[in-house]
Amino acid sequence: MAAALHVPVLVDRVVSLLAPALQRRGTVFVDATVGLGGHAEAVLAHCPDACLVGVDRDHHALDRVAGRLAGFSSRMTLVHAVYDQLPATLGELGLARVHGVLFDLGVSSMQLDQVERGFAYSQDAPLDMRMDTSSGTTAAEVVNTYSVDDLSRIFSRYGEERFARRIAAAIVRERATTPFVTSGQLVAVVRDAIPAAARRTGGNPAKRTFQALRIEVNDELSTLRRALPAAIDALAVGGRIVVLSYHSLEDRLTKQALVARASSSAPIGLPVVPAGHDPELRLLTRGAETADDQEVQRNPRAASVRMRAAERIREAA
Ligand SMILES: C[S@@+](CC[C@H](N)C(=O)[O-])C[C@H]1O[C@@H](n2cnc3c(N)ncnc32)[C@H](O)[C@@H]1O
Repeated sequence: MAAALHVPVLVDRVVSLLAPALQRRGTVFVDATVGLGGHAEAVLAHCPDACLVGVDRDHHALDRVAGRLAGFSSRMTLVHAVYDQLPATLGELGLARVHGVLFDLGVSSMQLDQVERGFAYSQDAPLDMRMDTSSGTTAAEVVNTYSVDDLSRIFSRYGEERFARRIAAAIVRERATTPFVTSGQLVAVVRDAIPAAARRTGGNPAKRTFQALRIEVNDELSTLRRALPAAIDALAVGGRIVVLSYHSLEDRLTKQALVARASSSAPIGLPVVPAGHDPELRLLTRGAETADDQEVQRNPRAASVRMRAAERIREAA
């Protein structure tokens, strides 16, 4: 099946938040999750003097986006990297500071649509789930080798799965005779491990297990925890960062990273904030912004989005 074009979430709002920082000649916009280039295309179109550094860990995405954004090739550089390598990536490009950074987290529609990559629990496929198919551990290796305790912890923490331990135990029992190869096999084991009453509610019972495995396989949360402070450090004064999260764990990390730098680091109670302790960031969103009903109807992916943004207001000490 041909991959549907990824519909960018909250695209007008993302552009309106980033554009004020990207109007001067030579300003640099880092799209840390360039994906299929929907957001990047909109930002480049609205900011004719800005250059794009488009990062993705998925070679397939970079191939696609190079074609889609060919019209902007003179002000675009695409880089295959994990986004926590941003300082090294910018160093190699000779860029000391950037003026806009976007993180649109999670998987793209293309990754879900490429059945053979095993992200989708609704279709039988090899159990892979690596965003970068050139390296790393597959979901099959995780379910075939992790202990019951480790699987249970992952399903509970990353999938908020109530029946994490039952599912983990069922997986370990099954693999003793039949190691996991396909997503269909895992879906069947998860379904059978869950009490019948719970199976009738809340959509596909394997949804949370698959989300948890994807987060583990791609080390998504540790990578994000390292990447956000590095991206903030790279921002020039006046530069802006926008983050779109799709589950509470991502949004919590984002909130912590932005709020930490938007607060004074001076000990509480001092009459005057000492030099170097003023906030580095000004928050541009009140709490997390969400998509309205109209957008969610057009683009179901927007249903769970939480967007936060901030602007650098002074150099780091
Ligand atoms: C939701 S999609 C981005 C879609 C994009 N904004 C668009 O409009 O087409 C997320 C992309 O980020 C990439 N990605 C996820 N985690 C990453 C990481 N740690 N480093 C680099 N790329 C990552 C995925 O491979 C995927 O292509």
